[in-house]
Amino acid sequence: MKETVLITGASSGIGLELAKCFAAEGCRLVLTARNQAALEKLAAELKQKHHAESIVLSADLARPDGPKQICNSLAAQKIVVDVLVNNAGFGLHGPFAQLPLQKQLDIIQVNVTALAELTGLFLPAMLQRGQGGILNVGSVAGFVAGPGMAVYYATKAFVQSFSEALAAELEGTGVTVNVLCPGPTETNFGPVARGDKVRARQTGKMSAETVARYGHAAFRRQKVIAIPGIKNQAAVLLTRVVPRRTIRNVIKSYNTFKE
Ligand SMILES: NC(=O)c1ccc[n+]([C@@H]2O[C@H](COP(=O)([O-])OP(=O)(O)OC[C@H]3O[C@@H](n4cnc5c(N)ncnc54)[C@H](OP(=O)(O)O)[C@@H]3O)[C@@H](O)[C@H]2O)c1
Repeated sequence: MKETVLITGASSGIGLELAKCFAAEGCRLVLTARNQAALEKLAAELKQKHHAESIVLSADLARPDGPKQICNSLAAQKIVVDVLVNNAGFGLHGPFAQLPLQKQLDIIQVNVTALAELTGLFLPAMLQRGQGGILNVGSVAGFVAGPGMAVYYATKAFVQSFSEALAAELEGTGVTVNVLCPGPTETNFGPVARGDKVRARQTGKMSAETVARYGHAAFRRQKVIAIPGIKNQAAVLLTRVVPRRTIRNVIKSYNTFKE
């Protein structure tokens, strides 16, 4: 039997496109997010196009019991997860002091705590079986500080560091960990983060399909850090040589809106 792949944030964007990549390989999917209708629509599409079986699990990862709910529900159905894709995430644009504090704590809960908890819940069984994989969705934001989106960038720095550290810890165990680091991508992320506010400076965005295909291929090749797109790769390279103060100023200006 092919692998069972649990994907968080599968209701839209990069997670939805990653689900298509794994379904095309014949994997069984566990699709989770809050929007159950969108997950069911995707499950029907994957069945029709790829004859893929999907289990739909609606869960809110901003709730502290979200990860355990997912794990318990799968255990009750005796479903073993071979691959965990920690993709769910969101951010909010604006200065830290002006944004609602609870919403910012929710970002940490979804992007950091739930990601670490799901990893902790599923990794031991993978290690026992001597096989498995974890694909975390980070961001190019994980390489820099992000004035104008401070909490979001900081959560992605955690994802970057955590993923790289785990990848090294797990060498030789049969379990792999990778981090996909997209740059600006055409998804619901922008509308969720900014509402209808528009950036003062626009950049070209990659499609969610291109990003997911790149991330999926990199996961299969066991490439620990996967940065899709030459512009994003160049930007990350620059962060190694440009002074941090300059980077902070560039990101601050990038994260400002049109009046
Ligand atoms: N788009 C970009 O420019 C970009 C760049 C770099 C990294 N990323 C990262 O890529 C990942 C996917 O985002 P995306 O761009 O594809 O945006 P998206 O289209 O908004 O997708 C985000 C996904 O996360 C889920 N999610 C959000 N809050 C959740 C919660 N409380 N509980 C459970 N699921 C939740 C959403 O599902 P529901 O709303 O149905 O719950 C949705 O499926 C995120 O980790 C994001 O940080 C995005």
